[in-house]
Amino acid sequence: MAEIGKDIDRAKQLLEAGELIGFPTETVYGLAGNALKEDTVIKIFETKNRPSFDPLIVHTGNIEQISKYTFPIDEDLQKLADKFWPGPLTLLLKKKEVVPDLVTSGLDLVAVRVPAHPMAQELLLHLDFPLAAPSANPFGYISPTQASHVEDQLGHKVPYILDGGNCDVGLESTIVGIEQSQTIIYRLGGTQVSAIEDVVGKVLILPQSSSNPKSPGMLKSHYAPRKPFILGNLEELMDKYASSGVKFGVLSFEKDYSFSQAAENFILSPRRDFSEAAKNLFAGMRYLDGADVSVILAEELPEEHFGKAINDRLRRAAAK
Ligand code: TXA
Ligand code: MG
Repeated sequence: MAEIGKDIDRAKQLLEAGELIGFPTETVYGLAGNALKEDTVIKIFETKNRPSFDPLIVHTGNIEQISKYTFPIDEDLQKLADKFWPGPLTLLLKKKEVVPDLVTSGLDLVAVRVPAHPMAQELLLHLDFPLAAPSANPFGYISPTQASHVEDQLGHKVPYILDGGNCDVGLESTIVGIEQSQTIIYRLGGTQVSAIEDVVGKVLILPQSSSNPKSPGMLKSHYAPRKPFILGNLEELMDKYASSGVKFGVLSFEKDYSFSQAAENFILSPRRDFSEAAKNLFAGMRYLDGADVSVILAEELPEEHFGKAINDRLRRAAAK
């Protein structure tokens, strides 16, 4: 099993030796390795069981470092970078030769991000290479938001997990790019659409698609628990499953169903706070997936604040 700790020097040494580690960011934990070293990048794909057509995000400690790996960026994307980095935003930029094609699955654009988590910052600023890091979960499963989540699923495959506590945001970064001067959101996430539109005006949100090779993170079945995950009106669903005698768990926004027919109830935010709900979402899905229930019932949130991004993850989980 992996060693879990807060030793940044140790993390640095392993990364310099071409190894992979689990590392915390403010969104979710990443499975990190030297983005410029092909052997290491291959190891990332293998460790996650990730298909090679699904490109990786490259992380650096600050905006200045990014210019080593990408060509100058479009004005609107520059504005977003200035406003939201370090933070839960990923930009698609034209890559330079030094970035291996493996990282981008052969695409001309590379996804880059400057994470805000203090441990990620400290680590990246002490490295002389960027880190390729997908979320540290097996392909298709729920993203990890605690070091123990990484240990549970990839602990036998990585030597070290840097423990940065619970991820503050809890949703992956929002992915943004530009095509023919139109700003496009490829994945909803930890930076809200409204905040992005405040900076660059109206954006296009690409509809959920299971066949869009451009951002395979948009695959419908992403973020899925292993158990059947049913999305709908909770009261109706509970009546239906209770009468059929199935033992079920409930993932609710703010309501408490612990004294109902539900065998387990995970509440995302008793005070109806969207940030808190986002932060708890993946831990809640994992908890119910591991609980003694056969089915997980869940409800959508109102489409405000992080509601849009949370519903996106819930729908993908249900689409399995
Ligand atoms: O918050 C995050 O973004 C986390 C943390 C660890 O930084 N990382 C993350 O990585 O969610 P991953 O690999 O699980 O998701 C990255 C997504 C994938 O859906 C991938 O298809 C998309 O980014 N992506 C990467 N490079 C791309 C590119 N050049 N063009 C389009 N989409 C790209
Ligand atoms: Mg992922």
